[in-house]
Amino acid sequence: MKGLFISIEGADGSGKSTQIELLRNYLEKNNYKSVLTREPGGTIISEAIRNIILDKKYMEMSDMTEALLYAASRAQHVEEYIKPLLEKGNIVICDRFVDSSVVYQGYARGLGISCIENINKYATKGLEPDITILLDINAEEGIKRKKNQRELDRLELQKLEFHKKVSEGYRELSNMYPNRIKRIDASKSVEDISNEIISTVKQLINDKYK
Ligand code: TYD
Repeated sequence: MKGLFISIEGADGSGKSTQIELLRNYLEKNNYKSVLTREPGGTIISEAIRNIILDKKYMEMSDMTEALLYAASRAQHVEEYIKPLLEKGNIVICDRFVDSSVVYQGYARGLGISCIENINKYATKGLEPDITILLDINAEEGIKRKKNQRELDRLELQKLEFHKKVSEGYRELSNMYPNRIKRIDASKSVEDISNEIISTVKQLINDKYK
């Protein structure tokens, strides 16, 4: 594949959006062709599936249905959008990819890491990011950033348990794939984090195109 595939992962409140924007600014300034996309989403069909997954009308959705819908949305996204862009030599930045499913559905919801990895091997036909940037934040900090530092109510505390599992799951995954997943401490300053991401991406570009 001529292009470069970068995924960005992290629990809610990890500062993904800010960092994605800074990375895009850097790539643009240096005249690299880059495209930003997100999951679940990125194509008309994938966005339609996203609306089903995130709709509060469907609270009874089973965990496995959810996992398969994320994978279905991803299959379309890879086939219709990501692969053709990579073949044309673009740098594709994807806000969440398979690791989100492995962590949220496999680890936090308990369907199992290998089950979700297997489903997604079919969905992506084996496409993996060249690098994954993981913004590592602990659950309390992530939730605090989202809600303005007041005491958490019962529901939010339940959420906290889920978020703890998400953060744990991401750490476990980054230990499983240390070559692909670059873990960055998201409690550092925005500037420090951005510098770390940019130097990692620069290195990758050098290795790939030298
Ligand atoms: P979104 O509003 O895009 O959140 P964020 O800004 O945090 O990316 O919602 C996506 C939600 O879906 C987010 O909570 C993570 C979750 N998710 C999964 O559970 N599995 C997946 O495979 C993906 C891609 C996302």
